Amino acid sequence: MADSPAPTRDYVSGALAPVMEEVALDDLEVTGELPADLDGRYVRNGPNPIDPDPATQHWFTGAGMVHGVRLRDGRAEWYRNRFVRTDEVTAALGEPSTPGERRDGAPTAAVNTNVVQLGGRTWAIVEAGQWPVRLGDELDTESVDPFGGTLRGSFSAHPHTDPRTGLTHAVAYHWTETCVRHVVLDADARVVREEPVDVGGSLMVHDTAITESSVLVFDLPVTFRIDDALAGSVFPYAWDPERPARVGVLGLDAPGDSVRWAEVQPGYVFHPANAHDRPDGTVVVDVCRWERVFDSDRLGPNEGTPRLERWTVDPASGRVTTEVLDDRAQEFPRIDERRTGTPVRWAVTAGLATAGAAHAPLYHHDLQTGSSSEIDFGPTSAAQEFVVVPRDGSESEDDAWLVGFVTDRAEARTDLVVLAADAPGDGPVARVHLGRRVPDGFHGNWMPARP
Ligand SMILES: [Fe+2]
Repeated sequence: MADSPAPTRDYVSGALAPVMEEVALDDLEVTGELPADLDGRYVRNGPNPIDPDPATQHWFTGAGMVHGVRLRDGRAEWYRNRFVRTDEVTAALGEPSTPGERRDGAPTAAVNTNVVQLGGRTWAIVEAGQWPVRLGDELDTESVDPFGGTLRGSFSAHPHTDPRTGLTHAVAYHWTETCVRHVVLDADARVVREEPVDVGGSLMVHDTAITESSVLVFDLPVTFRIDDALAGSVFPYAWDPERPARVGVLGLDAPGDSVRWAEVQPGYVFHPANAHDRPDGTVVVDVCRWERVFDSDRLGPNEGTPRLERWTVDPASGRVTTEVLDDRAQEFPRIDERRTGTPVRWAVTAGLATAGAAHAPLYHHDLQTGSSSEIDFGPTSAAQEFVVVPRDGSESEDDAWLVGFVTDRAEARTDLVVLAADAPGDGPVARVHLGRRVPDGFHGNWMPARP
């Protein structure tokens, strides 16, 4: 890292400052009326570095901490936050190490990016090689668990379940490989496919999107740097101006060498909102795209701001056409996942606060009309990722709740906020007051008690 320019901000202070105390709070105060059909847990993962050095701490490598709120019968039954007990955490806390096989016998660290319910169990997950960590209902760590021993390689922080088949798809990578892997899990969270797709380099691939026919491979120019790794960087990936950007379209059960590539303008996509097939053989995918990442700032994405774009990928011609849907700074797109892989009308994104600014609204996009509404939580408040939770017995896309954390930066307090998806501009239906700050993190999910 000696030749890297100095980072322009750190990733351990302000809204990202870690919290060391683990708490369990019961019967939380609620403003408004919590919908009685919300029976389950909202759980979110994020980095919570232990004793970090601000000059060198990469945003993506802090120890994982999950924050969860249990809702039932119109009450907020509990809030808990728990470290994901990888080996770095148990060593720091002086606890026995977590059971479970280690990948290549190596210590576990930083399973910090997402937490999902698959096969009726709860998994903390991350990209780049660390195996999943299984958590209990109250978020205590149970085991390092590569899906019952069925996972051989890496996993991803972004699995996508196909609502038509119940199969879960991810694209995974590891620094030792010049391929990525299309990983598929069955409904019991057992790996049924790990198909390599040769990409001729060691890439960072954060997410994917699926359609009814295909899975997408985002081959974008952020690559592994052996010199940084040898110099001690724990996330040795950087912008690679030499490498073209392209999107691969691979049939959901097709051999990896049948992938078809289409060239796209350079940039980086952490998160697509959704994708779908069109009758003409093209694939439409909506993405939050950064112009550039990990070039001047190697510790986090901090160069320009991401905007919402629509890419139409034509695997026959090898071309991608792009259209800007919304040029405001935004990330963490989510949709009604009952419709994953098919055309959706609505997507919700979190506005990104610019450096030093507290304020960040939520954006609710109508992808059919191109309009959007902005949900503003106040001049000192910032929304984090919101998820779409279908109402009981609902079928239509907006017959749902939007659920996520909002932090008042001035008060250093976080609420779990519930909005009505058919009227988000009306403001919160309910706010669960945690009475403390949840550090800004990455991804969460609603985990119904009766999946
Ligand atoms: Fe992510």
